[in-house]
Amino acid sequence: MAIVYWNGDYIPLEKAVVPVEDRGFLFGDGIYEVVRVYGGRPFRLADHLQRLHRSAAGAQLPLADAVDEIPDIIQRLLDENGLRDTSFYIQCTRGCAHPRAHAFPAEVHPTLLLMHAPLRPLPANARTNGVSTITVPDLRWRRCDIKSIMLLPNAMAKTQAHDAGVFEAILVRDGLVTEGSSTNVLAVMNGTLVTHQADSDILGGISRSVVLELAAQLQLPVREEAFTVDEMYSAQELFLSSTMLEILPVTQVDGRVIGRGRPGPVTERLYEAFGKLISE
Ligand code: PDD
Repeated sequence: MAIVYWNGDYIPLEKAVVPVEDRGFLFGDGIYEVVRVYGGRPFRLADHLQRLHRSAAGAQLPLADAVDEIPDIIQRLLDENGLRDTSFYIQCTRGCAHPRAHAFPAEVHPTLLLMHAPLRPLPANARTNGVSTITVPDLRWRRCDIKSIMLLPNAMAKTQAHDAGVFEAILVRDGLVTEGSSTNVLAVMNGTLVTHQADSDILGGISRSVVLELAAQLQLPVREEAFTVDEMYSAQELFLSSTMLEILPVTQVDGRVIGRGRPGPVTERLYEAFGKLISE
């Protein structure tokens, strides 16, 4: 039975229940992180915690003191659950306030949840053949840099992708590609790695930052700049990055074949370098 951390207690998953007045439940008033653990070691945990603090500051969300103990909590959950390769979901909400009112309460009882999430297998041949995607309008708010738990537009986009029989929905705002429903989108155009700048229109992914670091090490030219849907269609290579997917090639968008229709050499070099990094 999975043991999770919920507001100071290590308890079975079924026992971890949220009071209905929790503002995370009522308003989506909370933030989260997803951290990957390879061989018992959390990957880029410091970067995830830094982003958690940035999201909290952006949402004016006081964090539970126990947030400082997250590395120890992860270690204990790994031990108690006998895990080495997994991912952790970390969520902080503004907690309960009575009666229900939109404005932030004067007194806040923030929550902290950590639970491991099993790694989902990718569709067959996704790594070797690349995945198909569709574009959909980006219906989200203007602070996508905050990793908020308000994920309805993301969930709608991903469901549209599944309904269309493809892997991911690529979000488009004002004709420009922002990111995926739960991924960043990177393209190779004229030999340059291009991805949307890390502003408030996207979530600055930790994996995206890792890819940009690796690109610098491999001396690949990089441009952090938004591109149009047409520019994406004619990219040489296209791929997604995220904690769960690492680097995943995209070979189709809206039924159009990208590049040569198979994972490109830059994507493969970056994926190989990513693999080396996590096994270090
Ligand atoms: N999603 N963009 C969005 C909208 C995301 O939700 C995510 C991550 C990313 C990639 O960020 P990172 O490389 O730090 O994982 C980009 C997580 C994994 C999720 O919601 O499950």
